[in-house]
Amino acid sequence: MLTHAISPNPLYQFAADVRAGLTHPGQKELPSKYLYDDVGTALFEVISVLPEYGLTRADERLLRRHANDIVDRIDDPVIVAELGSGSGKKTRWLLEALCSRQQTYYCPIEISATALAMCRRELSDLESISIVGFEREYLDGLLEVAARRQDHAHLLVLFLGSTIGNFDRPAGTKFLRQVRRILEPGDTLLLGTDLEKPVPQLIAAYDDPLGVTAAFNLNLLARINRELDGDFDLQQFKHVARFNPEARSVEMHLRSSRKQTVAIPAADLSVCFKEGETIWTESSHKYSRHELLQIAMAAGFRCRAQWIDDEWGFAENLFIAN
Ligand code: AVJ
Repeated sequence: MLTHAISPNPLYQFAADVRAGLTHPGQKELPSKYLYDDVGTALFEVISVLPEYGLTRADERLLRRHANDIVDRIDDPVIVAELGSGSGKKTRWLLEALCSRQQTYYCPIEISATALAMCRRELSDLESISIVGFEREYLDGLLEVAARRQDHAHLLVLFLGSTIGNFDRPAGTKFLRQVRRILEPGDTLLLGTDLEKPVPQLIAAYDDPLGVTAAFNLNLLARINRELDGDFDLQQFKHVARFNPEARSVEMHLRSSRKQTVAIPAADLSVCFKEGETIWTESSHKYSRHELLQIAMAAGFRCRAQWIDDEWGFAENLFIAN
C-alpha cells in the first residue's frame, strides 16, 4: 500500500457510539460496523463458508462468471474504489478482467486495517495493478480517491456483498445519493444486493446451527469488554435472528436472559437490562429485482445491467451516474 492513513481517535468514537446506542430511549442498539474487529472479521469469513449462508458465495460466483461481461460495459481508463473490500477475494475476478485490458488503480476503502492488509496480500500477485488502500469511512475515502482522479479517468465504485442492506431503505438511497454526488456523469457503481427469499431460509442463514453467527454477534459485547473495559457476562445474552416483514430485513439482536446491570467504565456508562430486553445490532435488508431499478433512479443513476444468481437469489447491479 502506498497510503495508510489512520482515522482519528477510533476508540473515542467507539465509546461515544456505544454510549449513544445503549442509552437510546426505547430499543437499545449498537452500530453494526463495530461487529468487524479482528475477531469479528475472522468469524464473518467462517460465516461465508457455512452451507446456510449462501450470500457471499453467490456474490463471488456472479463476479467470477460475469467479470468480462461487467468490465465490457465500463469505459476505460478506470480507477476502482471499493467500499469495504474485506479480504479482497471476490474482487480478484473483476480486477483480473480489468488488468488484462489496462493498467488499473485499485483503492480499497476499509475501516479495518487488518482487512486492508489481508486484501493487499490476497491481490499481490496481480500484474498491471497499483493498490492504494484507505483506512477510512466510506464517503471520506471515496472523496480522497475522487480527488486523485486524472481528467480522463472514470471511477468504478464497488459496493459488494449486500453491505447496502445494513442501511434501512431510506438511508440506503440517501447513501447512494451521497456516493453519486462524489461521482461524474458516466462513472459507474457495481452494487451487490441480496434478494428476498423465504423466511425460514433467511432465518437459517442468520441463526446457523453451529452457532457461528451467534458468536459473531456476541463478539460485539466481548469487544466492548476488551476495548472499553466493560463487564458484560456473555453467558447472560442470547443471539436472536428475526425477520421484520415491514422493513423486509433480517434483524440480529442480543437478548438479556435476566435483569442485570452492566458497567462500561471507558464509555462512562452503567446500563440496566430487563429480562428479555434486546440490543439491536444489525439489519440486513432484502430487495426485489425491480426495486433496484427504482433505487438507481432515486439516487441519480440508471441501471445498465443486472446479473442474478439462480442458486441463491442475489443480484449484481451495474449503475451508471446520470
Ligand atoms: C456482510 C453485511 C452482508 O448482512 O448478511 C452475516 C453480515 N451478519 N451474518 C449480512 C452478516 C450476519 C452480512 N453483510
